[in-house]
Amino acid sequence: MATTSKTVAARTRALADGNLIPLFGLGVWQVPDGPTTVNAVRWALELGYRHIDTAQVYGNEASVGRALRESGVARDQVFVTTKFNPSRKDAAAELERSRQRLGTDYVDLYLVHWPQGGATRAWPGMERARELGYARSIGVSNFGRRELDQLLAVAPVPPVVDQVQFSPFEDRRALLEGAQQRNIVVEAYSPLGTGRHLSNQTVRRIASSIRRTPAQVLLRWCLQRDLVVIPKSTHRERIAENAQIFDFSLSDENMAALDSLDRTDGTDRALERPWW
Ligand code: A2P
Repeated sequence: MATTSKTVAARTRALADGNLIPLFGLGVWQVPDGPTTVNAVRWALELGYRHIDTAQVYGNEASVGRALRESGVARDQVFVTTKFNPSRKDAAAELERSRQRLGTDYVDLYLVHWPQGGATRAWPGMERARELGYARSIGVSNFGRRELDQLLAVAPVPPVVDQVQFSPFEDRRALLEGAQQRNIVVEAYSPLGTGRHLSNQTVRRIASSIRRTPAQVLLRWCLQRDLVVIPKSTHRERIAENAQIFDFSLSDENMAALDSLDRTDGTDRALERPWW
């Protein structure tokens, strides 16, 4: 466990605003509020995770906050992300509510969850939240390259992160390259395809050939593609397994085999279909 702790927490990269983000974290999308979320976050912190990703629409910020407090890990040692629900009016006002639910003075990263109402609609409230010191860094989620450009054209404070679904099967290469050129770090959500990609034959073959698990192969692929990655699990042993990705690498050949699984044609879009 000590090894996991050092290994997971130590790996960070700098965002364009100078703040550091851990390369790996726990996502809690679809984890019910209450003991399930409290346990998942508590186990992750025990196992050395120092990055937790929640959102207003997940409905589990209070449990994330509870686990953070009960863990005994200092607040400044954990990178906490939440996301503005863009069906609400004002991002700064909603962060006030998130801070209360989380029981924290600030979040490390605050994202516009999706570009409802257009790419720029929520941004003034995001900038205000940052100015007030309640969000250390601000960014977006589910923004394609076109939406990033619409926002960058007008934003005094540029977004430093775009969180999108990313995996060998959703290999949005043009979006990743575009984001990199614009100094925006891409975070991969649903890197396991919410579990669906774990049974793929190519993924399984590579995993068994290097004595790793399918989840580790998919997560390592993300790291080698310069993505920050936030897999979700509610099981302690899986939370531990998913963190063991800093002590091996995938060969060029295995990376290429995984790259060939892409079904998006290397798109610059964040989503195949918007849900709003
Ligand atoms: P569970 O939460 O029951 O552990 P994604 O991160 O792509 O959204 O994937 C999350 C899904 O994958 C969840 O259903 C989670 O199940 C499952 N999962 C997460 N880690 C592993 C793992 N190491 N092995 C098998 N399934 C996993």
